[in-house]
Amino acid sequence: MGNQITTLLPLVVVPAFLARIYYRWQNDFLRKLRGPDSSSFLYGNDIDLICQNEVGDCEFKWAREYGNVWRQHGCLGTDRLVVADPEALRYILHVPGYHFDKRKEVLKFVEMTFGRGLTWATGETHRRQRGVMNPAFSAPQMRTFLPMFQNSASKLVQVLKEEVIAAEPSGQLVVDMIGWLSRTTLDVIGEAGFGFQFGSLDGLENPLRKQNENLFTGTPLRYGFIIRTIWYYILELPSDPLRYLPTPRYRRFRRYSAFMRNFSQGIVERSIIEGDGKDVMSVLLRANASEDPRRTLSDIEMVDQIATLLFAGHDTTAKSLTWYLYEIARNPECQERVRAEIAAIRAKKSGEELSATDLESMAYTLATIKEGLRLHPIVHTLLKEATQDDVIPLSSPIVTKSGEQVSSIPVRKGTLVDLAVGVYNRLPEIWGIDANEFKPERFLDIDKSHRSNVGVFGNLMTFSSGPSGCIGWRFAVLEMQTIIVTLLENFEFSLPPQTEKTRIYRKLAGGLMASVVKGGKGAWMGLVVKSLEE
Ligand code: HEM
Ligand SMILES: *[C@@H]1O[C@H](CO)[C@@H](O)[C@H](O)[C@H]1NC(C)=O
Ligand SMILES: *[C@@H]1O[C@H](CO)[C@@H](O)[C@H](O)[C@H]1NC(C)=O
Repeated sequence: MGNQITTLLPLVVVPAFLARIYYRWQNDFLRKLRGPDSSSFLYGNDIDLICQNEVGDCEFKWAREYGNVWRQHGCLGTDRLVVADPEALRYILHVPGYHFDKRKEVLKFVEMTFGRGLTWATGETHRRQRGVMNPAFSAPQMRTFLPMFQNSASKLVQVLKEEVIAAEPSGQLVVDMIGWLSRTTLDVIGEAGFGFQFGSLDGLENPLRKQNENLFTGTPLRYGFIIRTIWYYILELPSDPLRYLPTPRYRRFRRYSAFMRNFSQGIVERSIIEGDGKDVMSVLLRANASEDPRRTLSDIEMVDQIATLLFAGHDTTAKSLTWYLYEIARNPECQERVRAEIAAIRAKKSGEELSATDLESMAYTLATIKEGLRLHPIVHTLLKEATQDDVIPLSSPIVTKSGEQVSSIPVRKGTLVDLAVGVYNRLPEIWGIDANEFKPERFLDIDKSHRSNVGVFGNLMTFSSGPSGCIGWRFAVLEMQTIIVTLLENFEFSLPPQTEKTRIYRKLAGGLMASVVKGGKGAWMGLVVKSLEE
């Protein structure tokens, strides 16, 4: 009996989903759109994305060939709509009612590893969670974090001077900045996020830090991709088939999740008892207590916000800072101009700490930060799916395969939509023909008529936008301003001699765009760090 079922099952299931793929394909507007030919039956164009020399190579090329909207082949015929058109992005991110929400495969992974926090929440659950959480990320709230940011930034400078540069005072030392920036942003998110002292700049070992460091190591399951596609997008089954896999990588995700739940439980209990904390979680707990009970976070949702903050707020900021230092090292005139701007503000301060207003008044420095985030969005592509039938408007028409011009794209429920953040951030229509170059001035004298109305910060897609855009963008910007100003007041950064061994490439690591060198192990950003005279 059991044997018969196992032989019969494929005979039913396989034709059923082939018929289904065919039916969808016949009825889909996507198939009228131009786009790259499929490179592999199993993987579609995803194989091109995996094999490309640097993140963005394929998408930049496809956008030049097909315009700002194109069709891309995915795994087993699950085609995707790729969007870099400003009006289309604005519509997708701002249309009320969650017409375009987070993609299932991402959600399941997030749920397994980081639990039911904000990055997992969709639809009404998301609206409720976000409603409680938004006030904890307001501009006035962020200003209260400034002393914590300054404290960690000063510690970073001190450690670099005492431990790194003092050991090699030649002034030509190549320092891999990634580890240092990662420790700094970990200490910051621990303290400002949930009142926990990691002490990683003080050299303290911490089991939580260990868990975080190794989370994404090891090779992903070879066929995980195919299993997920069949499961979620062809059979449309709920639950998560990979959750119980006995591979080392998945065991590590599950161990992490169990560890985090226990750790976070302790933090929440302590915060409730102490009651007067200044960190994000304490603010959240107080907000939850004063809300209408129908609009609050459950206990497990609250606990899981800690893993969520660590996941969303640590490596993201560290990698963005890394890319910033890379650009500033490559552009010494810009670096000098930033330093001069800091010195001018300092001269007025007679020794006190800089305020948030001082940081805001550094227009050129802020422009360099925007320019770094524009060229190096660590989330290079955002994965969404249509939750209902809809029509996406375009700012400029595109030409279909048959030569017809269309100025909007009908999509069906379930359509997979990729938002091409990196492509949008370099569109010549918006940023000018020098869009590939690092030119902070573009943010000082930008022609307003060329601007779209997309992102939350500098009109960039780097933090996404709308009701599910990055909730922590103000946190990230203020943290980056503080760390950058403190570093540039104390050090000069330059590139080491450029050889095949030191040339930096953009590669994905744990889903984020990281800097690597050929043949290197993991992310690397070696810069010559020279201490400036006091
Ligand atoms: C430069 C650093 C950062 C970048 C580039 C960045 C970027 C992003 C992006 C692209 C998203 C996805 C939005 C979407 O799905 O449409 C996101 C979501 C999120 N980010 Fe950030 N982020 C950064 C730093 C932070 C920090 C410091 C925090 C917390 C303190 C944070 C917390 C979150 C959370 C909780 C979400 C989920 C929002 C939601 O689903 O409603 N991020 N971020
Ligand atoms: C759970 O967390 C507490 C501290 O909050 C710690 O003492 C304990 O060892 C943790 N248990 C496990 C199994 O990690
Ligand atoms: C948030 O508030 C609700 C309703 O008052 C309550 O049931 C829940 O336990 C609170 N969550 C936390 C973590 O305190």
